[in-house]
Amino acid sequence: MNFSSKIEKCSYSPIRKFYPLQVECEKKGTKIYHLNIGQPDIRTPQGFFDAIKRFDDEVVEYAPSPGIPQLIDAVRNYYSGIGVELSAGDIVVTTGGSEALSLTFSTVLDDGDELLVPEPLYSNYLTFANLSGGKVVPIPTDPENGYRYACRELLQSYVSPRSRAILITNPGNPTGVVLTRDEMRIIADFAKDNGLFLIVDEVYREFVYGGQKLSSFSEFDDIDENLVIIDSVSKRFSACGARVGALISRNGEFMANIMKLCQARLSVATLDQLGAAEMYKTDKSFFDEVRCEYKKRRDAVCEELAKIPGVRFDVPEGAFYLMATLPVDDTDAFQRWLFTDFELDGETVMFAPGAGFYSSPGKGASEIRIAYVRNCDYLRRSIRLLAAGIEAYNARKA
Ligand SMILES: Cc1ncc(COP(=O)(O)O)c(C=O)c1O
Repeated sequence: MNFSSKIEKCSYSPIRKFYPLQVECEKKGTKIYHLNIGQPDIRTPQGFFDAIKRFDDEVVEYAPSPGIPQLIDAVRNYYSGIGVELSAGDIVVTTGGSEALSLTFSTVLDDGDELLVPEPLYSNYLTFANLSGGKVVPIPTDPENGYRYACRELLQSYVSPRSRAILITNPGNPTGVVLTRDEMRIIADFAKDNGLFLIVDEVYREFVYGGQKLSSFSEFDDIDENLVIIDSVSKRFSACGARVGALISRNGEFMANIMKLCQARLSVATLDQLGAAEMYKTDKSFFDEVRCEYKKRRDAVCEELAKIPGVRFDVPEGAFYLMATLPVDDTDAFQRWLFTDFELDGETVMFAPGAGFYSSPGKGASEIRIAYVRNCDYLRRSIRLLAAGIEAYNARKA
């Protein structure tokens, strides 16, 4: 049987691809500490569960294709709270930010069209771009320069007649980079001047640790034609399994085209939307508490990492990830070895090897991505396991 050339171009997620090895390792009785996946342990707001318990319709019907009105209103209110006025028609509810991404790519990219993305990047962008027929053009960044990319000359040098859009993640996954207001303006002007869609993945908007006010590209009022925002309740409310996101744009033509796909996929899960609408009523103190907890976790990880000889990293300013360069030439091979040949008191550690966050072959081989989504003790133990692993791995090779 033949498979499509589009699926042949796709790879497994660097975050999940070691699952079979994980299972084997666990069968040996080894406990695995997870730094690989961005699944927070923060309690989902009670409103989600209450809304679902209250549901007493006799039929679980399809929801309207754009989303249930309560949730669209809730999203509008939330944006209004950060100073952005949206109309109901600027929002469609999606099955997570993931569906918002794939709908957007299918709507703006033709076969061979180019999507500029600073790398390292959230690896699923590559899969969604491949399926749409588009091609990711990576914009290189440098760990030594804190992975920053908002430089007009740099961005401009990657524009070609096939460029259709630039996609950025702010705050960044996997780097934790948070754009300054000036950097946001540079990117907005770049997209506007080049007639490109500016797709901004803001699913980590709440997670900034420098005391900055929450910001969104939707605050700029001169890029309505260009801007598409990818949003989600997954990280905001620690509700990843709810699978509820949103696609937001004031470009009416874009939204009209998106609606063709929304109608074809019928609707997003009715109960999850009800739960999500209720979560938007959560008291604002929830975000302050959660932000404070993640900041502690970030600091715990950084403190432990700084003790490991040869490890380089920048303290991330946002999201809940960190890229670190290890004194190891191939972190993919190192991870395999940590499953098969290493344990310390019956425990080992799992991270996401860096190469999977690059679309340029050969890059990121010495890097790893760490998700700091578990409690501080768990994270400190994980990093100590990593330190012991690095030492044993390099001693073995020497
Ligand atoms: C940058 C980024 N965008 C989008 C998503 C998709 O999340 P979801 O589909 O759960 O909203 C994720 C998930 O980790 C992510 O890290």
